[in-house]
Amino acid sequence: MNAIINILAIESSCDDTSAAVLQNTTVLSNLIANQKVHSEYGGVVPELASREHQKNIVPVVHEALKQANLSLADIHAIAYTRGPGLMGSLLVGTSFAKGLSMGLNIPMIEVNHMHAHILAHFAQTPNQAKKTPEFPFICLTVSGGHTQIVLVKSGTEFTVIGSTIDDAVGEAYDKAAKIMGLPYPGGPQIDRLAALGNPKFTTFPSTAQNEFDFSFSGIKTSLLYYLQKQLKANPNFLNEHINDVCASYQYSIVKALVKQVVKAAKYHNVNQIALAGGVSANSYLRRRIQEVCAQNNREAFIPDFQFCTDNAAMIGVSGYFNFINNSVGSQSAVPFTRYSS
Ligand code: KG4
Ligand code: ZN
Repeated sequence: MNAIINILAIESSCDDTSAAVLQNTTVLSNLIANQKVHSEYGGVVPELASREHQKNIVPVVHEALKQANLSLADIHAIAYTRGPGLMGSLLVGTSFAKGLSMGLNIPMIEVNHMHAHILAHFAQTPNQAKKTPEFPFICLTVSGGHTQIVLVKSGTEFTVIGSTIDDAVGEAYDKAAKIMGLPYPGGPQIDRLAALGNPKFTTFPSTAQNEFDFSFSGIKTSLLYYLQKQLKANPNFLNEHINDVCASYQYSIVKALVKQVVKAAKYHNVNQIALAGGVSANSYLRRRIQEVCAQNNREAFIPDFQFCTDNAAMIGVSGYFNFINNSVGSQSAVPFTRYSS
């Protein structure tokens, strides 16, 4: 096996088309084409997402190679997201990876999108060594489609020890934003407004469940009923108090997330806690996990902003771990839409 391997990574699971070039775990380029087309619908429209991926994938790959200063002839393996995600979107990346793998006669490596979010902690940037977690560690993976507490035993061994029983935390943000008339994606909007509000203005039910699980459908309904009641009494309520409502809603969510992940770390006797996924870009969650870890003699790992939301660099890192573990994919692989470990 080569000591240095150049990986071309492709991510197309949802609404971002991304390509990255890595040398082992060092990211040489990481290009993301965001799809603006969904914002007018207040959520991702799967059919439109697939069409956008189809349009974007070739130019994004070209640009990623160009920025990395490499050509296709330099690439040793192609890593791609096999799932979970939207079937039509995944098919674009999968088919592209299969074609390139066959054309260049190089291995293709299947990557689980949720594992890749976690392994983003191992993405290095050139000339800047970053401290990485040590196995085993616990990761709170929070995205638009998933909420998981994962015991990470190695770069290829993941055990989900807690998860949501209904909506994902990202959905709780996005749906709340929709209720309040804020644009999609709602997470960054609520994050921004919450910073200006009073988190103790009102209380919302806890989203923590038994053991290390969560439920987020109730809090969204409780927000809806709360606003209906307040708006009946004062039609201007939301204009006057949107910051406070966002702050209180976020306070309840983050409190439960931090409580459950710290409980899991104690139960499994693990000292390092990492955050991953799109919602780990949340400023309050990033702050609270650091504070609570410090109080509990634990070390927090907060991902770089550029690697929080969907990106191909994390797919490349996961691909690298799979590759050195001799886990290469096949031309007959079919995308999967739901999480499987
Ligand atoms: O991981 P990701 O990019 O895509 C999925 O795999 O789902 O996560 C997207 C989710 C969206 O729900 C978005 O609202 C949320 O991450 N998000 C945030 C923030 N930035 C993105 N949620 C809260 N605060 C943020 N700053
Ligand atoms: Zn994601």
